[in-house]
Amino acid sequence: MSVEVSAQAAYIVAALLFIAALAGLSKHETAKVGNRFGIAGMAVALAATVALAIDRDIEGIGLVLLVGAVAIGAAIGLWRARIVEMTGMPELIALLHSFVGLAAVLVGWNGFLEVENNLDGEEALHLEALGTLGIHHAEVAIGIFIGAVTFTGSIIAYLKLSAKMDSKPLVLPGKNLINVGSLVVFAALTAWFCADPGIVPIILATVLALALGLHLVASIGGGDMPVVVSMLNSYSGWAAAASGFLLENDALIITGALVGSSGAYLSYIMCKAMNRSFISVIAGGFGIEAPSSSDTDYGEHREVNAEGAAELLKSAKSVIITPGYGMAVAQAQHGVADMTRKLRDAGVEVRFGIHPVAGRLPGHMNVLLAEAKVPYDIVLEMDEINDDFAATSVVLVIGANDTVNPAAADDPTSPIAGMPVLHVWEAENVIVFKRSMASGYAGVQNPLFFRENTQMLFGDAKDRVEDILKSL
Ligand code: TAP
Repeated sequence: MSVEVSAQAAYIVAALLFIAALAGLSKHETAKVGNRFGIAGMAVALAATVALAIDRDIEGIGLVLLVGAVAIGAAIGLWRARIVEMTGMPELIALLHSFVGLAAVLVGWNGFLEVENNLDGEEALHLEALGTLGIHHAEVAIGIFIGAVTFTGSIIAYLKLSAKMDSKPLVLPGKNLINVGSLVVFAALTAWFCADPGIVPIILATVLALALGLHLVASIGGGDMPVVVSMLNSYSGWAAAASGFLLENDALIITGALVGSSGAYLSYIMCKAMNRSFISVIAGGFGIEAPSSSDTDYGEHREVNAEGAAELLKSAKSVIITPGYGMAVAQAQHGVADMTRKLRDAGVEVRFGIHPVAGRLPGHMNVLLAEAKVPYDIVLEMDEINDDFAATSVVLVIGANDTVNPAAADDPTSPIAGMPVLHVWEAENVIVFKRSMASGYAGVQNPLFFRENTQMLFGDAKDRVEDILKSL
């Protein structure tokens, strides 16, 4: 069997391993095995690519560049993945998507320089003989476009997620017209490029796509960022698939399509969970108006200390804990698990209510609670537990804010209006663990803090949970 045929076979094996990885990742219990399938698939694909390159007489500087790039990329990847905090994961993922986008732009430009810029060259004549030169022109333009939108969009997502940029949506006058107009101009530039492949249309298309990526993601508000990250994940998949067509690499086409479609499906699921229109989010907040800044006076809040909270918990029949981003920042999950054990031993029913976008990445809270060995069967999804709050004695809101905001349910002018939330306010008593009266990720005031049945327990969530444990 020639190296060429073996490499193609290896690509199919890698693609199957990637599909097995996705299947494994869909459940907590099998996620680790899924991850290993993914690593194995990537190792097979990389080995096949290197073997193919050597077989195609790559030598000297080309080989050094190939091995050097793999080594440097692997070293940086290992280093970053080892030191990243769970809470910093979405930023890291957004940054990684930007690399995929940039790679697709570079692959597209390389295709242009090799073929369209050199129409008498070997590669161009070969494509012309096959009758696919026109398709190549279109692939170059589309690959560069998707890659450039992903590149700048991901950088803005990174800046917003890491709070290096304001998470409020940018609302330029006629922003929808800008987005739709950009697509029309891009279609015209592609037609121009296919008819007369020159450097001017391709430079214009690149600049337009870079600007569109910036605008699309800047127009999306902080609360919708989870959807944006998975949407960029999807775009990065399509960018990789576009590169696969240009490089005639089946593994890239298949992997890109898997990432593209699973990312799009995840975005769709998240949009449904957050009651957002999928189209409006992927179109850069299409139809979403600028939120009116709410300066409503909700009155005074009440405070409680750890001893008071412990007393309430001791006399409770049922407790629901709704964790959020603050529990992750404080790393309070182990204390929370100990507290759960103690209360359950004392005969109190304790369950967890998990909002689909609590924290900063899908499944964030489930991972933390599993790490602290909280039994899976008392960790319930929002839809499974939302009707039970009314019959609950005490709800502990530990570092959650937007995901328990009643304004989402009853204030149509709220920027998070319509987003399903945990109905914690229906419980007899609510204790909110946070450090101050500051707003959550979406930057919206939370009327829950001022309700009559709510008491604020200020301080770092981990410290306060430890204090309660002592009092228990
Ligand atoms: P948030 O609304 O972000 O609120 C977290 C709260 O934790 C803050 O109000 C903060 O208040 C408190 N906090 C921070 N550090 C703390 C500490 N050490 N001890 C105690 N409290 C602390 O959290 P959420 O309810 O989990 O909602 C998640 C938000 O993130 C949503 O808006 C969601 O759309 C967005 N988002 C989610 C994802 C995914 S996929 N899950 C991705 C990106 C964005 P203080 O500062 O007063 O302490």
